[in-house]
Amino acid sequence: MKLIKKWTDDLRYLPYNQWDENYQNFLLETVQHSPWRLNYHIQPESGLLNDPNGFSYFDGQWQLFYQVYPMGPVHGVKSWAHVSSKNLVDWKTEGLALLPDSDYDQHGVYSGSGIVIDEELVLAYTGNVRDSNWQRASYQMLAHMNKAGEIIKDKVPIIPNPPEGYTHEFRDPQVFHYQDNYWLLIGAQTEELEGKVLVYSGPSLETLTFEGPLAFSDQSMGFMVECPNLVFVDEKPVFLFCPQGLDKAIMDYQNIYPNTYVVADSFNTDSLSLSNPSSLMNLDHGFDVYATQAFNAPDGRALAVSWIGLPEVDYPSDSEGWAHCLSIIKELQLHDGQLYQKPARELVDLRQEQTAIGGELSQTPRTIVEKTENSYELKLDFSANSQGKLHLYADPRGDHSLTIDFDTKNGMITLDRSQVSNAFAQDYGTTRTLTIEKNAPLSLQIFVDQSVCEIFVNGGQAVLTTRVFPTETETNVSIEGKSGDFSGKTWRLRKMIND
Ligand code: FRU
Repeated sequence: MKLIKKWTDDLRYLPYNQWDENYQNFLLETVQHSPWRLNYHIQPESGLLNDPNGFSYFDGQWQLFYQVYPMGPVHGVKSWAHVSSKNLVDWKTEGLALLPDSDYDQHGVYSGSGIVIDEELVLAYTGNVRDSNWQRASYQMLAHMNKAGEIIKDKVPIIPNPPEGYTHEFRDPQVFHYQDNYWLLIGAQTEELEGKVLVYSGPSLETLTFEGPLAFSDQSMGFMVECPNLVFVDEKPVFLFCPQGLDKAIMDYQNIYPNTYVVADSFNTDSLSLSNPSSLMNLDHGFDVYATQAFNAPDGRALAVSWIGLPEVDYPSDSEGWAHCLSIIKELQLHDGQLYQKPARELVDLRQEQTAIGGELSQTPRTIVEKTENSYELKLDFSANSQGKLHLYADPRGDHSLTIDFDTKNGMITLDRSQVSNAFAQDYGTTRTLTIEKNAPLSLQIFVDQSVCEIFVNGGQAVLTTRVFPTETETNVSIEGKSGDFSGKTWRLRKMIND
């Protein structure tokens, strides 16, 4: 048996129950043998994972869903898969939760959110349907999960059509409760092909009315906005979204589509605006973050999780029957009006043996951690006059690595994946540069997990996320530099327990 190489539309939209069981078993088996499988990140059992959905806290547990196409590493007919957790670290596989099995979602149960109402977790999603001419229809749907984990989909949509003047590129409802009303934000496109976010509100999710577009920027957001997501951090709105086709003069970016945000003073429900919004900012300065979803947890935190992967880009693990993963859980905070993203505090639970490291930077590369198994956390502090390179996924000869170029004198960090094995997406550039404060110390907190790396800069002021697909020998950490010194710690990180 072989993996499928040529994915036609017919194959991608074939109902799951028409797939041969032998093929499915073969696929699962192939995926299990992939050397790039992850230890503590949520990943698909087979096929393709994309957006996180329905992130919530219900029945004493964290609930998280994600977009999945289980039959191969392509965007086929999507479902929601479900995982749950008691500690935000170990995620139990609950299986497929919402299947594309009704007239309102037969070509995909697309992205959405979750909200606890009374004794239920209510899931809001987009039903994607194609007609015989492959024209899209989008329906906004609800499903209800009870405490036994049983999920029942509503029979009819809560929003059966986009409002007048908008196309059927209309999806990813975020539902929340605010000032005694229910609200729904949704990604949309005008008939003039401009990306918008639309607002609905009402006394219940079943009785929403269309209010109008959300005003959050004076600029044009390209041809489509996906995955709008409003959270409140210290009462201030932080609005996350994914504009497609955004003019780079508005915000510079190199990924095919960026995941962006604005921070505002308040959400003005009368004028449907975010007051005094910041300029548009890039949520992640690395290569691979999209569709981040955040929610206000009952414990007061704003928790976020991202899709690590991008639309319309091929990845090396495709050849092993799977693609993409979710990020670790991040806490959003505001300090002096600036957004910070920190690894959720629960992640310390992954830490195993600890090693201290440090010294002066010198021109000859020095291995500071050898044979890591590529499952570790690394915290490093650099002095204010440091210039050098940190190599992750380094092979013993120093031919290959993921390089972090740091220059605290001139205030720059460059993440360079030009020297990694199994390079991909090179059309979008092989480096990402971030400016940091000049002549100031620098701290890095890095999570490496086999084929994914998340780098938190200066306590979460910026994050750079990237996939890397190393060969077996690329497991060292080494450092070199012209000036400065560094000190820090590393921990081996355990696997998550997923049952
Ligand atoms: C974003 C997205 C969403 C859509 C989902 C389909 O990655 O395109 O807009 O709901 O993926 O899987």
